[in-house]
Amino acid sequence: MEKLVIHGGKQLNGEVVISGAKNAVLPLLAATLLADGKMTIKNVPRLRDVNTTIKLLEGMGVTVSVDDDYNITTDTRSITSYCAPYELVKTMRASILVLGPTLARYGEVEVSLPGGCAIGSRPVNIHLSGLEAMGASISVEEGFIRAKAKRLKGANIVMEKVTVTGTANLLMAAVLAEGVTTLDNAAREPEVTDLANCLNKMGAKISGIDTTSLRIEGVDRLQGVEYTVLPDRIETGTYLAAAAITGGKIKVLNAAPSTLEIVLQKFRDAGALITTSTDWIELDMQERILKSVDITTEPHPGFPTDMQAQFMAMNSCARGISVITENIFENRMMHVAELMRMGANIRLEGNTAIVAGMPDLFGAPVMATDLRASASLILAGLAANGKTIIDRIYHTDRGYEKIEVRLQKLGANIERVNG
Ligand code: EPU
Repeated sequence: MEKLVIHGGKQLNGEVVISGAKNAVLPLLAATLLADGKMTIKNVPRLRDVNTTIKLLEGMGVTVSVDDDYNITTDTRSITSYCAPYELVKTMRASILVLGPTLARYGEVEVSLPGGCAIGSRPVNIHLSGLEAMGASISVEEGFIRAKAKRLKGANIVMEKVTVTGTANLLMAAVLAEGVTTLDNAAREPEVTDLANCLNKMGAKISGIDTTSLRIEGVDRLQGVEYTVLPDRIETGTYLAAAAITGGKIKVLNAAPSTLEIVLQKFRDAGALITTSTDWIELDMQERILKSVDITTEPHPGFPTDMQAQFMAMNSCARGISVITENIFENRMMHVAELMRMGANIRLEGNTAIVAGMPDLFGAPVMATDLRASASLILAGLAANGKTIIDRIYHTDRGYEKIEVRLQKLGANIERVNG
């Protein structure tokens, strides 16, 4: 199995180009199911989850082609099946995103029920109750969600909890429903906004974009368009954290500073000098002291849960004591025990971590438990004295394109090894 080996203690400096957002491209690829004919998605990151989504679409009979720049073109005219099988859903929960568009366009769909995962039980009840409110008949049996509806009907839906893929699924269902749907308490993560903008470009009538109240006037058909995925705000934040934790200076290019305002504020609070333009961000930590910052995760525009583990690594070697509270997922603290193997001083009380910053972390063999936990361990390894070996990095490859190559260019001593 592949591992990452890091010899820490090197200051990272330079420039890095950010990829398209994983959590935007997955719903956008699902949205291609709504298009009559061909549709092209650009600025696609080369990630395992994108490959899995391509397999999922191809399994449904969609023709998918990928050009040299990794632009993905789909053609739904060849579709033969409305099923997302267990083999794919078990490797990527985001497969659930085909539920809404397939049902709305083809009148039936079968998706293996995603189980829990390392960070929590992650139910999909809000996706299902929303579709039922739009008139779908749904059964959950033999581990599959089976939904049918001749044509979905507009409905007023108040979502009981803010859910990102839940909002995406209901949005993709409502665009082809008969009449008007309102989605209240909707997620307004930038990736949801990106999806809504793409759907409108395809001919949908969505208003209230970027707010928690979406209004969707159903249309009869949507056309295929060309759409460019927004930059990945979590990848951006992770590279900025690499500069912060190593006392370096990094400029991230092709970024979207407006999508991570609170994260940038936390970097400033941690002592970094941040400069931004419309599409780049520079973080300068040279000759500065890294300070602890308190973090409470919230739905957007609050602090993103997907950056919590990275700030845990930073706080582990920052000056002072910090409190980190995870409010989105019930079990997203698995990195704590691994960071402690590297000398971090963290007390965990339920979903709150109290972190006493240590002057030094030391390298150790550690294990990635989920995607962002793996990012946190890489950051800690970059800052630590000595050698860190990170196991189970298939988690990393789900969300970070060529991470070791990009970190090497910034001056890190990191390599991918087999065995
Ligand atoms: N929830 C329910 N019922 C539902 C749906 C969600 O109770 O029907 C709960 C979840 O269990 C969780 C909370 O609501 O406690 C929020 O979950 P949400 O549905 O928003 O998460 P998600 O859509 O499954 C996406 C991202 C995650 C990111 C979260 C929160 C994608 C593909 N995944 O997950 O990304 O952490 O939103 O922002 O968009 C990652 O990239 O590392 C990652 C895990």
